[in-house]
Amino acid sequence: MPADFLAEPYKIKMVEPIRMTSREEREGLIKEAGYNMFFLRAEDVYIDLLTDSGTSAMSQEQWAAMMLGDEAYAGSRSFYRLKDAVESITGYPYVLPAHQGRAAEKIVMDILVREGMVIPGNMHFDTTRAHMQLRGGKPLDLIVPEGLDPTSSHPFKGNIDLEKLENALNIHGKEKVPFILITITCNNNGGQPASLGNIKSAGEISRRYGVPLFFDIARFAENCFFIHMREEGYGQKTVREIAREIFACGDGCMMSSKKDGLVNMGGFMAFNDRPLHEQACQLSIINEGFPTYGGMAGRDMDALARGLEDVLELSYLQFRIGQVAYLARLLREAGVPIVEPSGGHAVYIDGRRFLPHIPQEQFPAQVISVALYIEGGIRTLELGSIAFAEKDEKTGAYSYPQLDLLRLAIPRRVYTNSHMEYVASHVIDLYKRREDLKGLKMVYQPSVARHFTCRMEFL
Ligand code: F0G
Repeated sequence: MPADFLAEPYKIKMVEPIRMTSREEREGLIKEAGYNMFFLRAEDVYIDLLTDSGTSAMSQEQWAAMMLGDEAYAGSRSFYRLKDAVESITGYPYVLPAHQGRAAEKIVMDILVREGMVIPGNMHFDTTRAHMQLRGGKPLDLIVPEGLDPTSSHPFKGNIDLEKLENALNIHGKEKVPFILITITCNNNGGQPASLGNIKSAGEISRRYGVPLFFDIARFAENCFFIHMREEGYGQKTVREIAREIFACGDGCMMSSKKDGLVNMGGFMAFNDRPLHEQACQLSIINEGFPTYGGMAGRDMDALARGLEDVLELSYLQFRIGQVAYLARLLREAGVPIVEPSGGHAVYIDGRRFLPHIPQEQFPAQVISVALYIEGGIRTLELGSIAFAEKDEKTGAYSYPQLDLLRLAIPRRVYTNSHMEYVASHVIDLYKRREDLKGLKMVYQPSVARHFTCRMEFL
């Protein structure tokens, strides 16, 4: 037994059956779905690694907390319990719930972003980027170069390039840069963490230029755990202490609670600044709801308040990050090309290195995704040539991103290590007979966010 192998730090009290279909059934189902994972019914999936968002299992304490939910329209006890939990972790006193992360993003962008502004960050998440662009702003990804190299084993591939950040601030100035946004962990390059050293320097730059620093904290606890494990000087600090140090470097945060909030729906914003909070409350009233519920039921705010405590427990995080690393190790040892090091919430397979005989316009990562479903009933998500291709509006031609990745996102507290072994065995089997796999072609695609609704066929 390897030294870093941990068993689940919980036992199972309630079970949700999952159904194994036959290979023939799955061949028919995925064909009918246009080879698009979003069109499958969840009940036809055996192991669902589409996303870690909103798919967590709650603890007995969270379920118990739900019974205490106070559904008062204004000023509910549940809101104050959530506010206290958020404030005690972040130190930010002005807390506003939202129904999910992108709703918080919309409110913040509507207040702060104007035509022609530039928003630097390590790497903005897709919906965050879209909200900036809808306001006429320009998202600027300033991730360190190691962050874009799938073979680099740099421990903090989510760091922001500090020199590029200063350059951007020098070029555009305070007037054109409404805030800096650091996403922890950085989802778009594989759930990679930013170091506290890097965040502190970014905070110092933000103060020097008078531009606020915000955090997208969908997976903040996982980021804190990586700092605890990897960064010198933080091995003795608790994850909660590390979180406080991160938040002290900035001025506010937005959260999709569907990840490290350990709940199935929800989000929030938290700020140091009262006027910003007041403006956000005004927008919340017309879009999300009165500021003491912002689109969330009282019982859900209680579950979230407790989830934010659960997620900072060391044993939870050790197992969580260990489980993702365990799946990565099984794949790595069999020679499967993955993004190194594995991140906090997912293992990413490198489609181009897995299937070098399939060109990018035939979607190698999606080919692996379809084969994993047919062979094992496993659902995964392509984040590559389908999701991130850019269309030239004049010629109609597509240009493809450098990376063609397949994400195996691990829901929190849902699957056991034997599920991970099952997944690994199917990926490894497929890798052994990779030369038999054939490419796909697109037969229908919408003009925006094509990966959600496009349809494909085998060549
Ligand atoms: N920020 C990050 C870093 C995210 O990963 C997501 C969602 C959001 C914001 C938006 O939050 O979904 O609650 O509106 N990520 C999901 C995923 C969808 O599958 O990675 P939301």
